[in-house]
Amino acid sequence: MKLDMTAVEYKNLIDRGLDGYFRTEETFPLHGLAESMRYSLLAGGKRIRPMLVLEFCRLAGGDPQTALPVACAIEMLHTYSLIHDDLPCMDDDELRRGRPTNHVVYGECTATLAGDALQAEAFGTILRSDLNAERRARCAMHLANAVGLDGMCGGQYLDMLGEGKELTAKELDEINSRKTGALLTAACLMGVAAAGGSEKQEDAAARYGAAIGAAFQIRDDMLDVLSTESELGKPIGSDREEKKNTYMALYGEEKCASLVERLTAAAKDAVRECFADTEFLCSLADSLATRRK
Ligand code: IPE
Ligand code: IPE
Ligand code: MG
Ligand code: MG
Ligand code: MG
Repeated sequence: MKLDMTAVEYKNLIDRGLDGYFRTEETFPLHGLAESMRYSLLAGGKRIRPMLVLEFCRLAGGDPQTALPVACAIEMLHTYSLIHDDLPCMDDDELRRGRPTNHVVYGECTATLAGDALQAEAFGTILRSDLNAERRARCAMHLANAVGLDGMCGGQYLDMLGEGKELTAKELDEINSRKTGALLTAACLMGVAAAGGSEKQEDAAARYGAAIGAAFQIRDDMLDVLSTESELGKPIGSDREEKKNTYMALYGEEKCASLVERLTAAAKDAVRECFADTEFLCSLADSLATRRK
């Protein structure tokens, strides 16, 4: 119950924050591009990453309100990754967050540019925030580490290379820690960095992020098989269609569920060792483990 309250409060704060960016009336003659950016950004994601930024900032002794631009920035970056992930040259999906995908509505060129612009705006939003220079730089560094060659883009590349091939569990872990785990880990680290937290706090944040990140992609792969399109807000069966390597294909449902459980317990242990008030993070980890969307 407490999680719901706090998560709803955080989500409202994040949604209001995001609504302030790229307002089309201020962007003539670029309103078409701005509209496509807002279309995907405000389509109603779960806002897990920005929530992690705000909560880790609070736990590390900061004021979550001051970290709001950093939280909005990671959601911009995440939204860019989704727009590009759905493109015909990648996963070729036509539904996202319960709506037609960006390229279906605005065309491939605009969708590509919307993603590109959201990525640059994410860094700009951090660098233009009121945090002190050291904290801004540290947040931007964590984000850059998570999305580049060794992070999300590298993971997406390996994901594509692996299509139609039989990968080992270790190879699949490598892909997923890059394509999904890195950004979730960065969210946790950016929250600590926005508060000027300690190395020990960053270490606990990284361990929590890596564990929920691994669990998150396993659950995502499960839902691609077990959920429905209307509940999930994105197509099911997309992984099989694209001949993806997934945990469901490798392990089956039962082993996936037990892996998610183990990783969730590890995530909770990591933060309990370092922070006093971990109720929100523990409930969040539990709710992600059994999420339906
Ligand atoms: C989907 O992320 C992409 C993956 C990393 C598996 P989310 O499940 O967080 O998507 P939204 O933001 O709620 O739409
Ligand atoms: C992609 O994983 C994660 C990203 C980096 C966007 P998926 O391709 O499984 O994500 P969904 O299922 O389309 O959200
Ligand atoms: Mg993909
Ligand atoms: Mg996809
Ligand atoms: Mg998926």
